[in-house]
Formats: sequence, structure tokens, C-alpha cells
Amino acid sequence: MSHIHFFGAGQMAEAIIRAALQRHTIAAGEVTLSDIDPARIALLRQRYHLNDDLSESAALSAAQYIVLGVRPQDDLAAVAAIINQYASPNATVISIIAGVTLEKLAALLGDTRPIARIIPNTLTDTGLGFSGVAFNPHVERAPLLPFLESFGKVMLLEERLIDAFTAFAVAGINYVYYFIESLADAGVLAGLTRTQSTQAVYENLIGAVEMLKLKQCHPRQLMDINNSPGGVGINGIYELNKSDFAAGLQQSVLAALRRTTELSGN
Ligand SMILES: NC(=O)c1ccc[n+]([C@@H]2O[C@H](COP(=O)([O-])OP(=O)(O)OC[C@H]3O[C@@H](n4cnc5c(N)ncnc54)[C@H](OP(=O)(O)O)[C@@H]3O)[C@@H](O)[C@H]2O)c1
Repeated sequence: MSHIHFFGAGQMAEAIIRAALQRHTIAAGEVTLSDIDPARIALLRQRYHLNDDLSESAALSAAQYIVLGVRPQDDLAAVAAIINQYASPNATVISIIAGVTLEKLAALLGDTRPIARIIPNTLTDTGLGFSGVAFNPHVERAPLLPFLESFGKVMLLEERLIDAFTAFAVAGINYVYYFIESLADAGVLAGLTRTQSTQAVYENLIGAVEMLKLKQCHPRQLMDINNSPGGVGINGIYELNKSDFAAGLQQSVLAALRRTTELSGN
């Protein structure tokens, strides 16, 4: 990838830069930054040895890709005005701003501007987890995909599903962390040490996913094999069935979806 400029050098922009540098889909000398806070620019330049030769206008003129990493409530119109003034009309804008639609971005950046709207996952350093991605018709996908795939896997979505994806898949990693914590606590409650319990949870989690992929079956089929009549497993599952475990999880996702929709004004 040639020159890439990040508008908004916050937490998510840094996570993307770190992962993409590590996987060599961007080169440090071809990365420039804009941020309201000059100290933040200086910190990231120094931390990742980024380009510090170019002014903002020169960096935007050189950019083939421009990442919008500001927050939904920031002054997007002002950012768009600077991009429109200095950047090539062919430069692709990659927006990671939650809730801001391709239509709204096109209204600010022009109808023929190539624009990708993505919701990155926070698992950037691992290369796992899906980013939700929607393109407008002007984006040339092939040269962009290696960069997008360097900070997560790419799930191409119809744009109408981006809010659901945000609430379920991107916010969803929280439920997994919460599940791991709760289950490790249960192991401690049962008498194992924190270390023993956590190790067992990690291994069971990874193993369960591998098993499901390997057997290509529904989780309930594997639970059926695990649970002998009147045995240990089915007694545990019985208690879980009586709790609001599934409904609580599903209601949490729907609450996150309501909030995402509210924030995006859709
Ligand atoms: N964090 C996540 O899990 C996640 C996941 C998917 C998508 N996103 C999206 O990613 C975006 C960034 O999130 P974040 O967590 O990285 O937020 P963040 O750390 O607050 O980063 C936003 C950065 O943009 C800067 N900024 C604001 N207005 C600007 C302007 N006009 N020109 C240049 N820079 C400007 C901010 O500076 P100041 O702080 O000085 O205002 C801040 O450094 C958001 O739109 C969010 O919806 C986040």
C-alpha cells in the first residue's frame, strides 16, 4: 500500500497502525497523522517511527488512502473540508466511525469519492475477529483488502447490517470476556486455583470452537454426547437452563443494538 493518512490518531487508529505495521501491509515511512492534539501525533510518530516530513496538506495530497478515525460526535464536516481541499479525488476514504453511513460520508466527501465503511474489531493485535465492511461502488477492493485483513478478518456486509454487526460481533467480544471471567470464578468457587481455573477455561473455549468446526455440527449435538443419563454434565446444564443465561445474553445484544441505532440516528 502506498501513502496512508490517518485523521484522528486515537486508540483505534493506533491499534490499526500497530497491527498493519506488524503485518507489513503499510510502511512506517508512508504513514502520516492528523489529530487535534499535537502531543498525540508526536507520541505515535516516535513510538512507531512514522513519517514526520510532510505537512498535513502535503500528506493528504500524497495519500492513496485516508482513514477517518475521529469519533461520531467530532466535527466531521471540518475534517471533510480539509480532505476535499488537499486530497486527490481518487484517494479512498476508509471510515471507522460508528454510525456514520456511506450516504452521509458521500454528502461530505463527494458522490464519486471511493469510500469504505468499516467497523473494526478490537482484537486487532491477534489477526482474529471480524471487521464489518461495506464499500461504495467506487472502491477498488483488491488493493485495499490486504490492509483491512491485517487488523482482523473481513466480513463483507450489506450496509443495513452494520449496526447489528457492531452490537453483536464488535461489542460481542465483551460477552466472551465476561463469560471467561464468570466461568473462571466458578472454577475457583469449586476449589481450583485461579491459574488452574483460567487455564482450563481458555483450553475449553478454544477446544470447543475447534471441535464444532471439526465436526460441523450444532453445539447441542456435542452437549448430547457429553451428557450421560443422570450424570454430572446434565445436572449442571439443568441449573443453567433454570437461569436466564441465554435470555440475558440475547437481551444484552439487543440493548447494544438499540444503543448503536440510537447513536447513528438510524
Ligand atoms: N474503540 C472501539 O472499540 C471502536 C470499534 C469500532 C469503531 N470505533 C470507532 O473508531 C473511532 C475512534 O474511536 P477511538 O476509540 O479510537 O476514539 P479516540 O481514542 O477518542 O480517537 C479519536 C481521535 O480523534 C481526534 N480528533 C477529534 N476531532 C478531530 C479533528 N477534527 N481532527 C483531527 N483529529 C480529531 C481526537 O482528539 P481529542 O481526543 O483531542 O479530541 C482523538 O485523538 C470512533 O468513531 C469509533 O466509533 C471504535
